Amino acid sequence: MNVLRYGIVGVGNMGAAHALFMKDIKNAKLTAVCDIDQTKLAKAVAEYSCTGYSSANEMFSSGEIDAAIIATPHYDHVPLTIDAFKAGLHVIVEKPIAVHKADAMKMVAAHKKHPKLKFTAMFQMRTDALYRKIKELISGDELGKIMRVNWIITNWFRSQRYYDSGGWRATWGGEGGGVLLNQCPHNLDLFQWLFGMPTKVRAYCALGKYHRIEVEDDVTAYCEFKGGVTGVFIASTGEAPGTNRLEIVCDRGRLISENGTLTFNRNEIPVAEFNRTTDTMFGTPSVWNVEIPFGNDPAHHRKILQNFTDAVLGKEELIVKAEEGLNSVELANAMLLSSLKDKTVEIPMNAAEFETELAKLVKNSKFKKKVGKAGKLDMSSSFNR
Ligand SMILES: NC(=O)c1ccc[n+]([C@@H]2O[C@H](COP(=O)([O-])OP(=O)(O)OC[C@H]3O[C@@H](n4cnc5c(N)ncnc54)[C@H](O)[C@@H]3O)[C@@H](O)[C@H]2O)c1
Repeated sequence: MNVLRYGIVGVGNMGAAHALFMKDIKNAKLTAVCDIDQTKLAKAVAEYSCTGYSSANEMFSSGEIDAAIIATPHYDHVPLTIDAFKAGLHVIVEKPIAVHKADAMKMVAAHKKHPKLKFTAMFQMRTDALYRKIKELISGDELGKIMRVNWIITNWFRSQRYYDSGGWRATWGGEGGGVLLNQCPHNLDLFQWLFGMPTKVRAYCALGKYHRIEVEDDVTAYCEFKGGVTGVFIASTGEAPGTNRLEIVCDRGRLISENGTLTFNRNEIPVAEFNRTTDTMFGTPSVWNVEIPFGNDPAHHRKILQNFTDAVLGKEELIVKAEEGLNSVELANAMLLSSLKDKTVEIPMNAAEFETELAKLVKNSKFKKKVGKAGKLDMSSSFNR
């Protein structure tokens, strides 16, 4: 195979963006699209001169595609991915890979049965030079032992018009969650990629605090990691101007990512050594303030599309193995479960317990969704550094 033939399931906001990106991907061709909405389907077929399907399974078994991009609402990610594997297709699944851990595990188990098929998840933020630099600094010996991480990620503002734009959005039955499941999978993925999984989570999630929605739009979570490292993760879609500040407190000082800059306040003497050796009572180590360059290479979906294409063609390893997407699902579930049950949740969490709680929320929902007209769309401002 020299050219990978793609089919996209769901040509809504994100799927249509993938269709547009496809012309920039080397050795890739968009040959088919699928949507249950006939208007969107007809538009995509006309725009990209490809075959249109209103059934994903028909597209999967058509022989016209080698790989499927799943860009539907979240609950469908798992059954569609499993069906695509059964049809012998490589898969890119949008984030979050699933709504809950038990479902994500089914997907991972299905992939195990088809190990030759490549499987990635659209965590394009991992391609951002900023986060790659932070990862490099953590993996090297520059920072010393990490003591605490704080991520305030409240610049995910979404308007009521956004939530009203789709019947599935911000409902337990249609989307399965709110800011943790829609906007934050990228941040939760980076959180676990950079710091590993916590062992315990205690969170407070407010449901519909700022919007007429039934799911969470405001979250404060406290996490504990192995070795005494602690973390706080704060997210919201109701604040403006929001903050995106990742602060890593370490023996060597403090690394701060905010406003597109990466600053290292470097202790001249590591704080643990200073603590042991100083003869002062109120002194602190001298600090050098260093701005760390990381280049101008932001995240982009195209990089994941190109990497996946190259991986299927045997030229590269995957940047993101979709199985790793299970961790961000687990973190989102654990935070919500902790808040719903007013308790600390141990990780690995009990997947069945969360599944049961979510099923109760779906069953007992009295929320009446008012679907309005979609507002102005600018996908570029939906991605966030
Ligand atoms: N990676 C990113 O940066 C990013 C950004 C935005 C959205 N997303 C993700 O993309 C996915 C889609 O989000 P969106 O904003 O494009 O939603 P959307 O509602 O705009 O589009 C979803 C489309 O899927 C279609 N659809 C639903 N069920 C289907 C089925 N069974 N078969 C075929 N088509 C079906 C709908 O008709 C709709 O056109 C979500 O998982 C979302 O989290 C990712």
